[in-house]
Amino acid sequence: MEALSAADLQLVLDEIAQAMREAPDRGTQACYIPELARVAPDQFGIALCLADGQIVQAGDATTAFSIQSISKVFTLAIALGRLGDQLWARVGREPSGAAFNSIVSLEHDKGIPRNPFVNAGAIAVTDAILQGLQPREVLADLLRFLRMAAEDDDIHINKAVAASELANAHRNLALAEFMAAHGNLRNPSALTLGTYCHQCAVEMSCVQLARAGRFLAGLPGAPRLVSPARIRRINALMLTCGHYDASGDFAYRVGLPGKSGVGGGILAIAPGRASIAVWSPGLNAQGNSKLGSEAMERLARATGWSVFG
Ligand code: DON
Repeated sequence: MEALSAADLQLVLDEIAQAMREAPDRGTQACYIPELARVAPDQFGIALCLADGQIVQAGDATTAFSIQSISKVFTLAIALGRLGDQLWARVGREPSGAAFNSIVSLEHDKGIPRNPFVNAGAIAVTDAILQGLQPREVLADLLRFLRMAAEDDDIHINKAVAASELANAHRNLALAEFMAAHGNLRNPSALTLGTYCHQCAVEMSCVQLARAGRFLAGLPGAPRLVSPARIRRINALMLTCGHYDASGDFAYRVGLPGKSGVGGGILAIAPGRASIAVWSPGLNAQGNSKLGSEAMERLARATGWSVFG
């Protein structure tokens, strides 16, 4: 397929945003985090960062939203930087085939979560980077990483969202305690979970998120935060595990590594070509943005971007 210019891509995004504006079924906001259930469902934004540094955007692309599980990609990058391959003693690299908050495989796998993107795995990753640090230092490191990645200092944690999740974190506490029972949690579960809920409550717009993802796409002007070899590994995990029990379907329909969050955001990576962020608050049955997934599929079809050739 011919390379598309930024002007061509603008037309594609405008068309997608228009279709999404008119979509009759927008999914439902995450209701187990009351602050997220209050977000207006009629919003949709999309942004691309291209190899030449240009940004193409449409819809509510500059509105900040809760990145939630998309934060797990960045904490994984930080954890691998700090612990290297030792991290893999505490978390696996296999798709779970189960919901993001499932406890089922934890028992079978003796407290070792399937991968770093299911909640249990991300809690273990956060617990690993807490080693020897205070929660506020870990969160400051994460914000520093995100601000460097996006080259934008206006990225913050929404404390009301963190508190809202923490007040309803029974399931994640159960996951943390279950891992503790197997010796796979080094800090008190309340400390690790408090840090984790704050990390999930980072807010970014589609434009900021697309810019933050440039290093994963290996785009020429992107800040060098992670080695190319490690970037390939993170992208492999995003492709196989980034959408939980819908990862296979996302790979089939979109063909790009992606990571979703229950705030309704999705970050997808077209290596060497673009970093893509999309957001719409309503979720599908697997807890991934309904319109976000549809928009990614439309974009992949229009551009021909795929890691599968
Ligand atoms: O731990 C949770 O349940 C949320 N903070 C994050 C889950 C999430 O975003 C799942 N992604 N689609």
